[in-house]
Amino acid sequence: MTNHDSAVTVRDLRKSYGSLNALDGVSFDIGRGETFALLGPNGAGKSTAIEILEGYRDRTSGEVTVLGTDPGRGGLAWKAQLGIVLQSTGESGNVTVREQLTHFAGLYPNPRDVDEVIAAVGLEAKQKTLIRKLSGGQRRRVDVALGIVGNPALLFLDEPTTGFDPESRRQFWELILSLKNEGTTILLTTHYLDEAAHLGDRAGIIAGGKLIDIGPIDTIGGADARVPLVRWVDRGVAREQRTTEPATLVAALVRENGGELDGLEVVRPSLEDIYLELVAAYERGASTSSATVGGSATVLEKETAK
Ligand SMILES: Nc1ncnc2c1ncn2[C@@H]1O[C@H](COP(=O)(O)OP(=O)(O)O)[C@@H](O)[C@H]1O
Ligand SMILES: [Mg+2]
Repeated sequence: MTNHDSAVTVRDLRKSYGSLNALDGVSFDIGRGETFALLGPNGAGKSTAIEILEGYRDRTSGEVTVLGTDPGRGGLAWKAQLGIVLQSTGESGNVTVREQLTHFAGLYPNPRDVDEVIAAVGLEAKQKTLIRKLSGGQRRRVDVALGIVGNPALLFLDEPTTGFDPESRRQFWELILSLKNEGTTILLTTHYLDEAAHLGDRAGIIAGGKLIDIGPIDTIGGADARVPLVRWVDRGVAREQRTTEPATLVAALVRENGGELDGLEVVRPSLEDIYLELVAAYERGASTSSATVGGSATVLEKETAK
């Protein structure tokens, strides 16, 4: 099966390490130009999946195409279209930032301008510094720079901003959004759900080697998981109610109360709230029975509909 609109197709992907099923039948597509966030707790199988797509790991079974090619058989021309930022590399070489990037740029047929890449990752002031003398966050920027210097059609980012300070993270987001605007397809894993929400078009949530939800970021968890929550304090007692009509509820409460409400808040669950519910529901299901994906989604709906 080939879908020319897809940069990546994954069908029933499985990977076993001995008796451990690290990937237990995962299927998804990534469209060309799309940013797809693969989310899940530590050990869920994210890096295993990414590294199979990159051609770094063999799969046990399943069908995979990346830019139309089986990654197990991808040659140099295929590899040159990929940009790869592994979860842990931490370039530690005895060369400067500029030397390393210039060297790598020379390996690609259509590289980006090295100065532009250095500026894009905010390493202008450090370009003549030996990589081993950089801080962890600065080395991570070198990893990202090496990932984009080849002008990739498809960029893999495995926890790219772990260890960044908030300001660097925002700068990195700008960079990723500009690559996205240029049409780069991006597969991102991150533990920062705000990062996934800011950068991603769609997300897949993986737990225990299974995909437990997938869809556009603003539909993950289903509509019921997104129903706003009105909170207020009534004579010293904290109250909360979920409602699709929060303004109507607040107006009624104000009328009843004859004025302003103490501690009034109207909150919409964030991607992080929804993600935590989904993973917790999956883990409850996994520990009591061999619950299915549908089973854990049902649990979530019941809880959020209260
Ligand atoms: N080379 C390996 N040999 C044995 N087990 C591995 C290997 N790589 C990963 N695993 C196991 O596979 C599971 C998934 O790991 P990984 O893909 O790194 O998860 P994630 O990136 O989501 O944290 C974990 O239980 C991990 O311990
Ligand atoms: Mg990982």
